[in-house]
Amino acid sequence: MTRAPELSAADLDALAGHAREIAVACGRLVRDERPADLAVATKSTATDVVTVMDRRSEDLARREVALRRPADAFFGEEGVTAAGTTGITWVVDPIDGTVNYLYDLPAYVVSVAAVEGNPREPGAWRPVAGAVYNPVLEELFWARRGGGAWLTRGAAQPVPLRCGAVAPFAEALVATGFAYDAAQRAVQGEIVARLLPHVRDIRRFGAAALDMCHVAAGRVDAYFEQGLHPWDIAGAWIIADEAGLVVQGLGVPHPTPEMTLVGPASLVAGLERLLRDNPRRES
Ligand code: IPD
Repeated sequence: MTRAPELSAADLDALAGHAREIAVACGRLVRDERPADLAVATKSTATDVVTVMDRRSEDLARREVALRRPADAFFGEEGVTAAGTTGITWVVDPIDGTVNYLYDLPAYVVSVAAVEGNPREPGAWRPVAGAVYNPVLEELFWARRGGGAWLTRGAAQPVPLRCGAVAPFAEALVATGFAYDAAQRAVQGEIVARLLPHVRDIRRFGAAALDMCHVAAGRVDAYFEQGLHPWDIAGAWIIADEAGLVVQGLGVPHPTPEMTLVGPASLVAGLERLLRDNPRRES
């Protein structure tokens, strides 16, 4: 992995500060300037949508990164990219949970992460600082490498997020999500059908970054999803990691396009066993 030059605690704090401020600025933009006409367009399938506010949020994030850290690279979900020279890339999901946003369901977030390595290559990158902001609840999840994971609600003091008592597998509340592609969904449906009898229940909130932060906050016990992209996971990966959770793929110590698993080690191992048994686990 191409690493950024050794980052001090002060460097990491500064990156986390930028991530927080940019996530909050973009989150407020999409909440406060939501137009009546979202100018919806489709991407990979008819149900994979992008709105004018995804694009405006990504443009704002790019402008903010360029002002604050002009030599860093940028990689956003909606196609804004920039090369850099520092070894740090800002990976941004300008609205994670775009379908929730479309329906005005208050479960969408902006995810902003500083990562080292090449975020386009699975296993060749890791986040060093990140922030995930839900502008409706004014909840800001954030972390930097070695600094713990935190949740700031509105103007309140940040509270630490730390993995606590671990539920037995049979009592685990497990979040997941589904791809936009119909064939992938058919496989994902089979997996959920097999998992459901073995756990407490399943939740599908509709925003991968939020799902991962929910695990860090103990609001669900574990999470898995096939087919995620770097922008879906970058901000929340460092938050889950710093909360003491495992973030991995199937048999590898990092998420892959095939699978992202998040949770305490014992629950991730249980999920992995079940998912590995799946004869059709392709994403
Ligand atoms: C999607 C959400 C959803 C997940 C999809 C993602 P988007 O991201 O995170 O929960 O199931 O796989 O693509 O399109 O809202 O940015």
